[in-house]
Amino acid sequence: MPTTIPITPVRLKPAQHATITADSLRKLVDFENGSIDRRLYWDEEIYRLELERIFARTWLFVAHESQVANYGDFLTTFMGEDGVIVTRDQQGKVRVFLNSCTHRGNKICMAEAGNKRRFTCNYHGWTFDSAGSLVGLPQEELYKSTCRDFDKAQLGIRNARVESYKGLVFATFNEEAESLEQFLGDYRWYLDILLDNDPGGTEFLPGNIKSRMQCNWKYPSENFAGDSYHAAWTHNSGAVALFGRGVDNKYDQSKVYQANVNGHGWQFGLDFIGNAMVLGEQDILDYLKENEAKFAARLGKLRSRMIGSISSANLFPHTSFLPGQNTFRTWHPKGPSQIELHTWVLVNKSAPEALKDMYMKGVMRSFSPSGVLEMDDGDNWENATATNLGVVTRQQKLHYGLGMDSKVEHDELKGNVHIRKYNDSNQLAFYGKWLELMCDEGAGAS
Ligand code: FES
Ligand SMILES: [Fe+2]
Repeated sequence: MPTTIPITPVRLKPAQHATITADSLRKLVDFENGSIDRRLYWDEEIYRLELERIFARTWLFVAHESQVANYGDFLTTFMGEDGVIVTRDQQGKVRVFLNSCTHRGNKICMAEAGNKRRFTCNYHGWTFDSAGSLVGLPQEELYKSTCRDFDKAQLGIRNARVESYKGLVFATFNEEAESLEQFLGDYRWYLDILLDNDPGGTEFLPGNIKSRMQCNWKYPSENFAGDSYHAAWTHNSGAVALFGRGVDNKYDQSKVYQANVNGHGWQFGLDFIGNAMVLGEQDILDYLKENEAKFAARLGKLRSRMIGSISSANLFPHTSFLPGQNTFRTWHPKGPSQIELHTWVLVNKSAPEALKDMYMKGVMRSFSPSGVLEMDDGDNWENATATNLGVVTRQQKLHYGLGMDSKVEHDELKGNVHIRKYNDSNQLAFYGKWLELMCDEGAGAS
């Protein structure tokens, strides 16, 4: 897969949150009546607070273990707007540390991915190992003889806490954050549908597409969390172009659900192969059907029917995927009205190679910068972001009140379960988590 779009630095003013209090934040989201203030999508102060209270505090997906399988394998990515290196150290541990030299701050790694056991800074030549420790510098004797208390061990790069769940690597710079297990909670039950339907586990296919959209990061996140309402309208013409037929919105709403846990959302049917059809590959449908009994033995009958079902999901805050369709992406914030989108294809390691290729091509056709369905979505998110900025426009709140009374009890489904795909429950849950973190003035990474 080609990589596109150079990364340009985004400069932020120093933090000043004089006008933002917890009370003022609570007025922006009305859970009772289902409305949201458009300020969430354009305000610089809110954006800076999101970087501090969400992206610097909570667990963030940073890589799949298959991307850093061996000592020295690395990739560069972001945690909020902090550039980081994800790599595997000599002891086999996955490390995540800032991509910034402790001398003058230059990036120590310009590459997007590769294998390197040392990172040498371009500016003055300081060298760091795969744990972020400073291991060499030019004229070291001069430093030793002229600096007060020169101690190389104190000049290593700040590491994040790192934990994994079934192949997905998460990191946080918040020492006080809950464990990853607590952060994911019962959402793991849903994640297993994607990550643990086969004993061989999963992998990312090689390559990563990077692209930019001029939209607020919350639009794609909330969309994947539970906006199935848009699909039959936004994507209808795309579906006609791809498959010669429109999007089916006549299915039985009593068999489709939204569920959310800790702000993570998953919307799904119990129809097994629905979303996999977006790929337009009969072989993929056949593979899923052939393996249904195997999936059921591993996950139970109910979850075996959800593997390729019409679904989309968002892992709070900014990591989204389509189970069954197997695109996997992060929406990195780059200012209130811009994101950098990283896209991968996630597959079962044991799937036949020819099938992996079909998954890749299917994702490229649908959810890549040239993918028909991504272009549909991107247009809407960019226009919504830009429009909300209007000084009069911004005064009218947005409607998030669809299906307010859809919560149900279910014997097997975990989390907060809502019946009918067409409701705003998962999106409101996303904003519930957003508000909880934004109002918390307590200690974090900063
Ligand atoms: S900024 Fe990295 S060695 Fe000077
Ligand atoms: Fe969409």
